Amino acid sequence: MKHILKPDGRLSLCADMTRKGSRLADIGTDHGYLPIELCQSGRIPSALACDINPLPLRSAEENIARYRLSDKIHTRLSDGLKKIAPDEADDIVIAGMGGELIRDILSAEEWVKDGSKLFILQPMTHHTDLIEWLYKNGFDIVRQAAVADAGRLYTALAARYTGEIKDCDLLTATVGALDISEPRSREFLRSCLNNLNNRCKGDPSLKPVADKLEEMIG
Ligand SMILES: C[S@@+](CC[C@H](N)C(=O)[O-])C[C@H]1O[C@@H](n2cnc3c(N)ncnc32)[C@H](O)[C@@H]1O
Repeated sequence: MKHILKPDGRLSLCADMTRKGSRLADIGTDHGYLPIELCQSGRIPSALACDINPLPLRSAEENIARYRLSDKIHTRLSDGLKKIAPDEADDIVIAGMGGELIRDILSAEEWVKDGSKLFILQPMTHHTDLIEWLYKNGFDIVRQAAVADAGRLYTALAARYTGEIKDCDLLTATVGALDISEPRSREFLRSCLNNLNNRCKGDPSLKPVADKLEEMIG
């Protein structure tokens, strides 16, 4: 059967950050495309496709059955990680939600502080809130990249708990672990700079952050 993720899209970037052979939990799976693609390609052996709403979960179930993967991918109704036991997944993807919601989902479960777990996070908005929480709560960002999808720029990152707490100001949270030598990362940060410049109109204290970011990305 054909591949269902756009090769250079948002979810493909998340898929690429998963570890080969890991058991996946996809939180907020909706259509289930990510676990389907990863099981279909053989990159992972099994997955839990989870959602807080029954309707998207049903659509995931239909897609999983269509791709004949019902033996490998199980669905589960779960608010965030509440119904996921720590030993059920190695890699946890939370994609396509606001950064604040992803942060709240992570902060609700103590077992996220297990350094063997890899969290692949793709915030649609407010990535700075998520990164600030990660750094201030002992997580390291092991990889971060930017991607263009449907005319918009997004970032996705892979993080794991190390216990090392880092200071995080707005500039650090904006740039995260992006490699600014990458044109796509600079493009993403340019869009962040435009937002910051707009916010400076109401809050001039943000101007030094905007100036520093502009200096960094050139
Ligand atoms: C926009 S879709 C994203 C689907 C897919 N992950 C993606 O990135 O394309 C967001 C999904 O997250 C689900 N969702 C929202 N809040 C959630 C929560 N607290 N726990 C689990 N799923 C949630 C919604 O029901 C919806 O299906």
